[in-house]
Amino acid sequence: MKRAERTVSDSKLVPGLEIRSLFPFFTEGPAGCYLDSAATTQKPAVVLDTLRNVLVHHNANVHRGAYRLSAEASELYDQARTKIARMIGAKSERSIVFVRGATEAINLVAHSSEQLFRPGDTILLTLLEHHSNIVPWQLLAKRRGLSVAFTDITDDGQIDLNDFREKLKTLKPKMVAVTQLANSLGTVTPIAELVSLAKASGAQVLVDGAQGVTHLGVNVESLGCDYYVFSGHKVYGPTGIGVLYGRAERLEALEPFQGGGDMISYVSTEGSGWAEVPQRFEAGTPAFPEAIALGAAVDFLARFDRDDILAHEAALVSEAYEMLSEEEGVTLYGPGAHSGKQLAVVSFSIDSVHPHDFATIADTHNIQVRAGNHCAMPTLRRLGVQATVRLSFGLYSCSADLSAVRSAIREARKLFK
Ligand code: ALA
Repeated sequence: MKRAERTVSDSKLVPGLEIRSLFPFFTEGPAGCYLDSAATTQKPAVVLDTLRNVLVHHNANVHRGAYRLSAEASELYDQARTKIARMIGAKSERSIVFVRGATEAINLVAHSSEQLFRPGDTILLTLLEHHSNIVPWQLLAKRRGLSVAFTDITDDGQIDLNDFREKLKTLKPKMVAVTQLANSLGTVTPIAELVSLAKASGAQVLVDGAQGVTHLGVNVESLGCDYYVFSGHKVYGPTGIGVLYGRAERLEALEPFQGGGDMISYVSTEGSGWAEVPQRFEAGTPAFPEAIALGAAVDFLARFDRDDILAHEAALVSEAYEMLSEEEGVTLYGPGAHSGKQLAVVSFSIDSVHPHDFATIADTHNIQVRAGNHCAMPTLRRLGVQATVRLSFGLYSCSADLSAVRSAIREARKLFK
């Protein structure tokens, strides 16, 4: 591939303020106190350059042309699949299906596994799930006459393991779908234990790795899940591209999701046959420039030690907890910094200041935070709150962002007292 104009050197990188120079958002863009990385991450220059490079130098439709340019684009697309397989520890790149994002991946599984369910079967979720890991299952349940059950969480936002065990035993779910890291509270779930219990009970397991893949990483083979899903844009890659990992035998058993070009082995007026997986699930022209740029994000992330990422994001959670607990009228939600079960996200409310008002005040100081239910209404309802302010961190987040939040809280409390 033609080398991107600006590339970062090949040395190891350490999360923190210094790496902001690698993110044009901070050097050329709004350079805000960006505390909404759980919604979408900022992109390193190498990802933006790769996207441009593909569109300028390798732009031809993949798996369709006999000419060199198309073969090059196809090769880059296939290489991206291999990089992703390696990043998540998948045995084969055939287990990697490119989709638009985690939401589409879950919808794909919920649609394409429809024939595996019988009326009366149960799907078990948890009260920590993002709406995208709830609604596709509710739609499936409606189509097939299934039940959707929810594992309870504790008051500090952790999965109630006793309830999970009990529900596995009594409801015998066919499918268990659970998050690795909750986007609303930052709860790190005991994913290995959950998967192992669910598998032992005979269920298939889908893990929502939309936040987990970025902050915790994963090895899908040792985890033993059937499906693992994530979005490119939350792992420093572009929007419009995401990944469904499926164990080979699971993907083989699924019906196609959408019909169209590239997902068939033949088409006749009498009927059609399907391509091998993963192409069977990639109808139409894929977002190949975005997939290749996601491959660049994977390479970028690989230049950090996972332990450094964990330490950085855990330290920010601790610092935020310390700071916020000292502020009058602030209530924190989630397992807490000292639990070791909360990462990359801090959710809180401020007496007499609505989260949306706080977000607006923060915005006047170029601080970006998310306010609301974070697409996790059942979680917040269980905790007895309608909306929170959420700070969420990335590789480039730093202490100065937190100090800026403290000033905004003080200003908001003065305005609304
Ligand atoms: N799922 C994204 C978030 O948590 C949009 O903000």
